[in-house]
Amino acid sequence: MIQAYISGTGGYVPPEIVTNDALVRDYGVETSHEWIVQRTGIEARRFAEAGVGTADLAAHAAREALADARLAPHQLDLILFATLSPDYAFPGSGVLLQRALGLTSGPDAKFIPALDLRNQCSGFLYGLATANAWVRSGAAKHVLLVGAETHSAALDFSARGRTVSSLFGDGAGAVIVSATADDRGVRGCYLGADGSEAETLCQRVWDIKQRPFIPLDADGNGKVDPAHLWAHMDGRMVFKHAITRMTEVLGRACDDQRVALADIDLFFFHQANLRINQYLAESLHLPAEKVPHNIERYGNTTAATIPLLLAECARDGRLRRGMKIALTAFGSGFTWGAAILDW
Ligand code: ACO
Repeated sequence: MIQAYISGTGGYVPPEIVTNDALVRDYGVETSHEWIVQRTGIEARRFAEAGVGTADLAAHAAREALADARLAPHQLDLILFATLSPDYAFPGSGVLLQRALGLTSGPDAKFIPALDLRNQCSGFLYGLATANAWVRSGAAKHVLLVGAETHSAALDFSARGRTVSSLFGDGAGAVIVSATADDRGVRGCYLGADGSEAETLCQRVWDIKQRPFIPLDADGNGKVDPAHLWAHMDGRMVFKHAITRMTEVLGRACDDQRVALADIDLFFFHQANLRINQYLAESLHLPAEKVPHNIERYGNTTAATIPLLLAECARDGRLRRGMKIALTAFGSGFTWGAAILDW
C-alpha cells in the first residue's frame, strides 16, 4: 500500500530581525518588551523588506525542501500553497511559486497544478491532509506543500492595532510529501472548522456584497475603513477556543490512531502564542522537551509555523527518523487540525 511521508523540509525567514524593543523604537508601536513577552513569549520576529512578497519567501523554503529531498522542481506533481497573505487577491500565490521555481519556461517546464489553501493558521494541516490524499490515491508522487506569510505589510502599527501587530512575523516553511512503500509517514489527519466564529479573527479588506466591493471617493480612488483594512482579533476568545479545539483534535487523532500521548516523541504545536502552548503542554502533562518552539524568535508566522519548526528540528537533530510526532494547529475561521506521523 502507498504511504505518504515527508521526504524533505525547508524554512526561510527574511533577514531583518525586529525585536520587541525595535517594534517600539523603529515602528512606533505603543507597547513594551515586558508586555509582549509576558503574554505571548515573543521576543523578536522577522520582517521582509518592501518589494519581497509571500511567493518569494516561499521559493527559498521550497528550494531548501527540494534539496533536502534530493529532488528537482520538475519532479513535483502538485504545489499546495497555504497563506492568508497572498501576493495578490488573485491569482493565488501557488502559480507565482511555480514560476519562481522555473517550472513555467525552459527545458524543465512542467505545468503541474497549483492549489491555494485559505485556512490561515491551520493551512499547513489542511495542506498536509490534501497532500496525503493525493499521494495515497496514486494521483501524485511528490507534492510541494508550503506555508508562507508576509504579515509585516498588513500590520496596523498605531495604538489601535497593537494587540495584533505585536504578534505576527514573516516567514515560510515547506515540506515535500512523497510516496513510499515503507511503513512510515502520515498515519492520519484530522480537521475541523466552526464558521460561527468567522469574524472573531478576520481581515475584511473588502466586502463583496457592496457595489463596488471597495467604496470609492469622488476621484474614483478606493477607500477602506481602518476597521476593515487591518486584521480584527478578539484575543481572549481566540485563546479560549484554541485551547479547547487543539486539545480535542489531538485527543481525536490519538484515539483514532490508538496512540497514547506518552508514545509521541515530539509535539509540533502551531506557534501562535507560547502561553497557549504552555497551557496545553501542562494540561496534557507533556514534558517541555517534547514540545519544541521557536515563537520567541519568529512570532506567529501563521501557515508557516509548523513547517518552519519541522525544518529547524530536522536540521538540528531533534527530529529523527523513526520518531512518532503529532502536529496541531488552530486559527481563523475558526479552523483547526491535527496529524500523527511516523517520521
Ligand atoms: N502592548 C501594550 N498594551 C497592549 C497591547 C500591547 N501590544 N495590546 C493590547 N494592550 C492593552 C489593551 O489596549 C488593553 O488596555 P486597556 O485595559 O487599557 O483597555 C489591555 O492591554 C488588555 O488588552 P487585551 O486585548 O484584553 O489583552 P489580553 O490580556 O487579552 O492579551 C493577547 C492579548 C496577548 C492577544 C491575548 O488575548 C492572547 O494571547 N490571545 C490569543 C490570541 C492569539 O494568540 N492570536 C494569535 C493569532 S490566532 C492564531 O494564530 C491561533
